[in-house]
Formats: sequence, C-alpha cells, structure tokens
Amino acid sequence: MAGGFSVSAPAGSQFEAKITPVVIISCLMAATGGLMFGYDVGISGGVTSMDDFLIKFFPKVYRRKTESKDSNYCKYDNQGLQLFTSSLYLAGLTATFFASYTTRNLGRKLTMLIAGVFFLVGVILNGAAQDLTMLIIGRILLGCGVGFANQAVPLFLSEIAPTRIRGGLNILFQLNVTIGILFANLINYGTSKIHPWGWRLSLSLAGVPALLLTLGALFVEDTPNSLVERGRLEEGKAVLKKIRGTDNVEPEFNEILEASRLAHQVKHPFRNLLKRRNRPQLVIAILLQIFQQFTGINAIMFYAPVLFNTLGFKSDASLYSAVITGAVNVLSTVVSIYSVDRVGRRVLLLEAGVQMFISQVVIAIVLGIKVTDHSENLSHGYAIFVVVMVCTFVSSFAWSWGPLGWLIPSETFPMETRSAGQSVTVCVNLLFTFVIAQAFLSMLCHLKYGIFAFFSGWVVVMSVFVLFFLPETKNVPIEEMTEKVWKHHWFWKRFMDDHRVVDGDDKKNAQP
Ligand code: BGC
Repeated sequence: MAGGFSVSAPAGSQFEAKITPVVIISCLMAATGGLMFGYDVGISGGVTSMDDFLIKFFPKVYRRKTESKDSNYCKYDNQGLQLFTSSLYLAGLTATFFASYTTRNLGRKLTMLIAGVFFLVGVILNGAAQDLTMLIIGRILLGCGVGFANQAVPLFLSEIAPTRIRGGLNILFQLNVTIGILFANLINYGTSKIHPWGWRLSLSLAGVPALLLTLGALFVEDTPNSLVERGRLEEGKAVLKKIRGTDNVEPEFNEILEASRLAHQVKHPFRNLLKRRNRPQLVIAILLQIFQQFTGINAIMFYAPVLFNTLGFKSDASLYSAVITGAVNVLSTVVSIYSVDRVGRRVLLLEAGVQMFISQVVIAIVLGIKVTDHSENLSHGYAIFVVVMVCTFVSSFAWSWGPLGWLIPSETFPMETRSAGQSVTVCVNLLFTFVIAQAFLSMLCHLKYGIFAFFSGWVVVMSVFVLFFLPETKNVPIEEMTEKVWKHHWFWKRFMDDHRVVDGDDKKNAQP
C-alpha cells in the first residue's frame, strides 16, 4: 500500500468485491480532487512572472523588475505578491476544522460538493478579477475548497475502494497532484503568449477540474461507512451491495457497524489524539509535514518561473524550465509507486536525503559564485546546470517526502484516531505550505543563494530524524502497527504502556 492519503476501514481483510462502475467513478473523483489541488499549487508562480498580470495588480513589482536597480534576488520581494500565493493555504488550513465536522456529520458526498462550489466561485472571482481584493478573495475561496476536498476525497476513496486496490487509489491522488502542477505549468507556458489577458485564462482553466469535482460529487452515492455512522443503516447496506456488485456483503457490513460503534465511543476525537499512547503517531505526523515543507519543495513548485527569472532566464525559458521540473515531478512519483512497498519507506527517505542535500549545496555554490546582486544573466552552460540540479532535487523529493509525507501518517494512526489524525496532518501541512509561500521571496531577497543552504540544513535534520525515530512500516497491516511496530521501537515503545484506555473507558475489545 502506498501514496496519498489513506483513512478508515481496516486493511488486511478481503471481502467479496467487484470493480464496479461506482468504484471507477470514484477513481475519477480522486483524479479531479488531486488535479485541482495540484493546479492551484502550480498556477500562481507562472502567473506572477507574467508582465500583464504584474502591471495590473502589482505595478510596483513590475517597475522594480524592469528598472533592475534592486538586487537580482529582491525583484519579487513583495508581501502582497506572496499573499496572492499564500492566502490559499491560510484559508485551507482554517477550513480543515470545519471540513472535519462536515465529513463526520453531513457525510463525504456533501463535503465534496461544498468543496466543488467553493472552487467554482473562487475560479470565477479569479478569472474575472478587476482588483487585488477580488483576486485574494478568489484565492481564499479556492483555499476553502482545498481544505474541504483534501479531507473528504481521500476519506471517500479509501472507504469506497475494495481493500485490494485501496493503496492504488491513494497513489492516484498524489500522482494527480503532480499532474495538476504540470498542467498548470504547461498552460502558463501557452497563455503567457496571449496579451494582455493570458493570466485570466490560466486562472479560469482551474474551472475544468472544479466542475468535474462538483458534478462527480452530485452523482456519486455517499460511502456506506458515512451512512452507517449517521444512523442510516439500511441505506448504507444497500449502497454497499451496489458498489461491491454482490449481495454477499454481510461480513464487511458487520465490520463497518463495529467500526462505527467504536468510533461513537470516542467522544472527543481530538482530545483522544493527545493521549500518551498516540504520541508517537502524532509527533511523527506533525514533524513529517513540517519536514516535507522544509525540504524547500514549494519554493520550486510555487516560484520556479520567478526563481529562474531571478537567475536571468528570459520569461519563456523560465516557464519551460518550470515545465521540465513539473514533468520530472510526475515521472518520479511513479518511481515511488513502484518501489515504496519493495525497498521500503526508510530507504527512499534516506537516499533522497543525500540526493537533496547534494543538489541544494551545489545550487547554493553556483549561485553564490555566479549570481551577484547586480550581475548579468547566468551563462548558458551554468543555467542548464542549475536546471539539472533543480531536477535532481525535485526527483528525489517526488519519490520520498512527496508521497510518503502523506502516506506514513495515514498508515500509522490506529482506527480510533485516524480521522482526527488526518485533519491534523492536512492542517499542519497547509500551515507550513503557507509559511513557505509567504516567506520564500523575502528569504530569497535576504539570504540570497544562502536560502538553498538553509533548506539543505533542514534536510540533514530530517534525515537524522528518519534514521533514529522513524520505524519502517512497509508490509505491516494497518491495524497491527501498535503490536508490530510501536511496541518494538527502541524509543517509542515507552509510550505504549497505557495502551487500550479510550476516553476513560476500558476498551479491551476495541481493535478488530
Ligand atoms: C506536497 C505539496 C507539494 C507537492 C509537490 C505534495 O506532497 O504536499 O506541498 O506542492 O507534493 O509535488
């Protein structure tokens, strides 16, 4: 099992299940949810490097860019410009708390629908934006969409998928994030040649995945798990028969009933998460999100065109270099899908640590020597070298911290805390994505090439953490993590002593 998010429903047991049309529609849903997120991540960098866009919304930045009196590294340092990118993540992390409530009480289907509507209204405001206010409000609405979608879509998928393809569906979600980023880069490359409204087309085309997600959410049924959780037992059973393509659903249905009974025993899911025995998973989930963002990946994903521009690439070259790094990102995610259950999580993370460290240090050295505050463009040879180094960095991220940052938290939480754990994971991830989005261009201005040394320092810290504190979870059934992993880990086993007490209730029979 690998990739993306995975929540709910115990793994390991095989129930009778055909791959029915409903399940195929779910795959398409996964695609649109991931695409939408990826598109939002990828689109803003290219748009902010387009002159028409800067003239309209950020004339100060445009003047600074063309007059080039300022340091190369500071051309784009503008809080408003960074807010255009970062506001989405700030809104997204706030929305996850509401999304956690709606997924539980209104269902997965309705939550996805809410996400789709947020996306659509956000896209309209962005595409039609007349001033900065419309632009930022649009981004905030898109962010609400991301918060709701990233909580509900993965939950929906893992509940509706037959166990044997659940891992595959999860990978599909992460893979589609990277495809969304690549699409965004390609579209920016095309629209940058359309004056003066190319950027409007870039922002408006997000409407395509948004519309697909909305229509998808209208047509699918809610998951049996969610229906049962809300007391609609008969309906839940009928849907289960329909999606599994068989009348023989009694064993799976009983397991859902049992899971729901246990879930209801946990009165305060978030408080429960803070219990001592959940400490290892909680600490790891939070740190992995922080580390994932402090690899510096989104400095590249958000600002690659701006960064390449800073290095003296012409607009065109900046955008197609971003397309190249986007393609490397997609292809390397496929490598991860293939190897994660073979070589394991730790090997991927540790190998990537070395590769990321070397790439970043080399980039820092080349920029340090070649790009001074007022120097002319990087020479052709060095420019290509920098792009190659960015690609080796992106590829190692894409087969390690990219998918595994999501996978590991989702497979280590026990069922009773899985859903609350997922909210915390999404929330912390978006919080640190926000921090990078808001701070990167200013950090570039102040730290200059040292920004890459800064990230490489973090890579050392996270690799040491992996080495000593991250247990291997490859091939361990999801409901056996406590017994097989945590209780044997040299450090984390000390937290396993109060195991089995939930919200003060004795929970001896809790684990299925
Ligand atoms: C991260 C995103 C990042 C993307 C890049 C995801 O796993 O959470 O922040 O932009 O990977 O592919």
